[in-house]
Amino acid sequence: MRTDSAEPIRLKDYRTPDYLIDKVELDVKLHPTATRVVSRLSLRPNPNGRASAALVLDGDGLVAIRAALDGVELDVQNLDPAIGLVTPDQLTITAPPRRPFELEVETKIDPSANTRLMGLYRSGAAYCTQCEAEGFRRITYFLDRPDVLSVYTVRLEAERAEAPLLLSNGNKIAEGAIEGTTRHYALWRDPFPKPSYLFALVGGDLGSVHDEFITRSGRKVALGIHVEHGKEPLAGYAMDALKRSMGWDETAFGREYDLDIFNIVAVSDFNMGAMENKGLNIFNDKYVLASPSTATDTDYANIEAVIAHEYFHNWTGNRITCRDWFQLCLKEGLTVFRDHEFSSDMRSRPVHRIADVRALRAQQFPEDAGPLAHNVRPDAYLEINNFYTATIYEKGAEIIRALKVLIGDEAFRRGMDLYFERYDGTAATIEDFVSCFAESAQRDLTQFSLWYNQAGTPLVDVAAAYDAAAKTFTLDFAQSCKPTPGQDAKQPFVIPIEIGLVGEDGGDLPLTTSDRDGASAAELSRGVIELTTPRRRIVFSNIPSRPVPSLLRGFSAPVRLDYAASESDLIRLISHDRDSFNRWQAAQTYATRLLLRSVGLIRAGGEPIRDERFSVALRRVIENGADPAFAAQIVSMPSEADTAREIGQDVDPDAIHAAHEALRRAIGQDLKDILSATYARLAENAPYSPDAAAAGRRALRNVALDLLAAGDRIEGERLALRQFETADTMTNKIAALNVLAHTPGDAREAALDAFYRVHASEALVIDKWFALQAMIPEPGALHRVRSLMAHPAFSIANPNRVRSLIGAFAAGNQTQFNAADGGGYDFVTGIVVELDRKNPQVAARLLSAFKSWRTLEPARRRLAEAALRRVAEAGGLSPDVRDIAGRSLA
Ligand code: TRP
Ligand code: ZN
Repeated sequence: MRTDSAEPIRLKDYRTPDYLIDKVELDVKLHPTATRVVSRLSLRPNPNGRASAALVLDGDGLVAIRAALDGVELDVQNLDPAIGLVTPDQLTITAPPRRPFELEVETKIDPSANTRLMGLYRSGAAYCTQCEAEGFRRITYFLDRPDVLSVYTVRLEAERAEAPLLLSNGNKIAEGAIEGTTRHYALWRDPFPKPSYLFALVGGDLGSVHDEFITRSGRKVALGIHVEHGKEPLAGYAMDALKRSMGWDETAFGREYDLDIFNIVAVSDFNMGAMENKGLNIFNDKYVLASPSTATDTDYANIEAVIAHEYFHNWTGNRITCRDWFQLCLKEGLTVFRDHEFSSDMRSRPVHRIADVRALRAQQFPEDAGPLAHNVRPDAYLEINNFYTATIYEKGAEIIRALKVLIGDEAFRRGMDLYFERYDGTAATIEDFVSCFAESAQRDLTQFSLWYNQAGTPLVDVAAAYDAAAKTFTLDFAQSCKPTPGQDAKQPFVIPIEIGLVGEDGGDLPLTTSDRDGASAAELSRGVIELTTPRRRIVFSNIPSRPVPSLLRGFSAPVRLDYAASESDLIRLISHDRDSFNRWQAAQTYATRLLLRSVGLIRAGGEPIRDERFSVALRRVIENGADPAFAAQIVSMPSEADTAREIGQDVDPDAIHAAHEALRRAIGQDLKDILSATYARLAENAPYSPDAAAAGRRALRNVALDLLAAGDRIEGERLALRQFETADTMTNKIAALNVLAHTPGDAREAALDAFYRVHASEALVIDKWFALQAMIPEPGALHRVRSLMAHPAFSIANPNRVRSLIGAFAAGNQTQFNAADGGGYDFVTGIVVELDRKNPQVAARLLSAFKSWRTLEPARRRLAEAALRRVAEAGGLSPDVRDIAGRSLA
């Protein structure tokens, strides 16, 4: 166990390490319950560290068997304090030599008892590791911090029958039988110095898929993907995505792979998505395995993105790593930015942008608006595992994208080149990164860097005025940002706002400004206004008639925009904006307005509103033959959580649900004819392909089905039943089942049973079945979830099962998690406390479903607070859960 100290670690206390570890030799003898690890460390005092400091190595629940300093055995059971101290959580050498020295330590660990899935653990019969962020210390004593870079040589030994496959980082340099035994070994060497969090090993009996990639300089790289036996055919798409990622990084960023081998291992027990260990990525199998009959189009897109993400880490994360965990966004924000760019190039860029922004708003905006808000570069933490957040990842990526908009593509690329050249092989900081762009763009980025050091989503208020006599159009911008925990006053951000003025014919007007309150020539030619002060006025000249401003095109900065566009303005944008993101945004804004008004009316005991003009605008998008993937996005209404976020206070989830049902019903009825025609027209007629165009057609057809069912339950159920029975792709099958699941009755239960019977042996498919039931917006949902916990396919020990059933209920079922009797809160917090004893990381993440509790109406707010208090007061909590509970209540 980690120490229970409640003292935060602070960025300002960073100190360079007092010792360096140049070389690590590990000898690991795998055993299910008693794995032996011998670690030989080549240490030396850091010339920049403090002379005569003690050497303090991190441990976490370790059992030390023996240790030797420069060949001299130390009595680890009873060490003389003048020499040092060995505990499960620390190995101290009081006064190490002032010259290079060797420390050898043997530890004994029990991978089968490791339920936290950090360090060495077992997934099924296989052995695997997860060391980020602080898991290496659960394997052996080490300077377990990212700024200590070492060259690793790893010898693995195991029963050949149990683990014919033995993998570690780098290249395999030897292997063989161990004479006279049933055991064998493999020797791996990674020539690139790396921090301990990038160490990995895998041992097991797995099925392998092999391929190769030739880099642009002619290096032949052997690629391997290792999965459960029998699942090999499901790894083909991941392999294809890997090869495309490798090629793309060469052309888009000039980055080539640097080892002879690249391995990916898929395991079914994993705390997060995947891990970028050097040359040996370890994946949650849900981001590797896919076939048309088991994976949806979204699953395919996620596999492509996560494979790319982990591969791209080889440069942004591994070759250049982080100085300390405060710099986590240096690798994560940048790598998310890179995987977004990759997916945009592989698929439709505008559609991808919409999906990314939807995800940012759904995950990151509420985090930034609630008690868990933190800087993209935090300045203190209690438990680093709790900082693998949407803020670090997604907002971190958005900041880089905003920087690119600000300085332009060329300066951005030169800055990236400079970063790779200058910091290769080092553990870097955000300042290092930003300085490369300051240099390439010849621009002071001090104020821009506030994005890393101030939490909260800035609000940009825009007011417009047209002067017909002077033919001027004035935009008044004002930026502000609400206080966040520990930050009361904010300084103004640098906000690039891409804009256009859409004229009566739907085309963009040329941008010119008057001398007073003008924009710079660069701003005008690029259509990007730079907001750096609290307020800015821009007066556009030669504007023949009142234009419709199209603001924040492409979502050029991660801000909330408040502009009171008229309904007819929004309709002009939906139909004509040349920026497709803003066409979609205008439809979302329109829908949100209707929803907000309906929520108010419903709460006052009235009826929701109907607005046929909106339906007409949506109809036009479909009729005008928009790209199906894009049309699917436009007709997909905001989520209930989106509306709750817009309301922001005194939230009543039942009223929101009623307003959403009413809007979808109205659209389904108003557009019945064209939705039916679309549904019929887009029927599958070619063999399955996961490509973006085919996926887009399925997406539009399935949104049409959903809206038709909202407008006419009977007809919707008929169509859904037929689709469910005949579907040969998981995308279509689950879409149909989802429609059926929202209609109470025998048909629903029969379909759910049938689905289970067909897919009972495929855990990842059963996860969809769990999630879909957990999200049924009916009072019976909690009872259903409780019953499903007793289902043989469920296991509280498996993070994917927990996320599918309980995570989906907490984060995806607005009305039932927030049920007025508090039953949803009590259920989830009960699970959190129970799960915390097994897997604190997953428990803490589940608890963060309460991040918006303060925005609820008073009765629910009191119940949520009481449930959180019971967690906070429970005994024996992990630092992970204690941290989330504490910050949520602060
Ligand atoms: N570095 C991983 C990624 O984003 C994240 C990760 C995987 C992780 N497993 C983890 C972080 C366990 C913390 C703990 O690609
Ligand atoms: Zn990552």
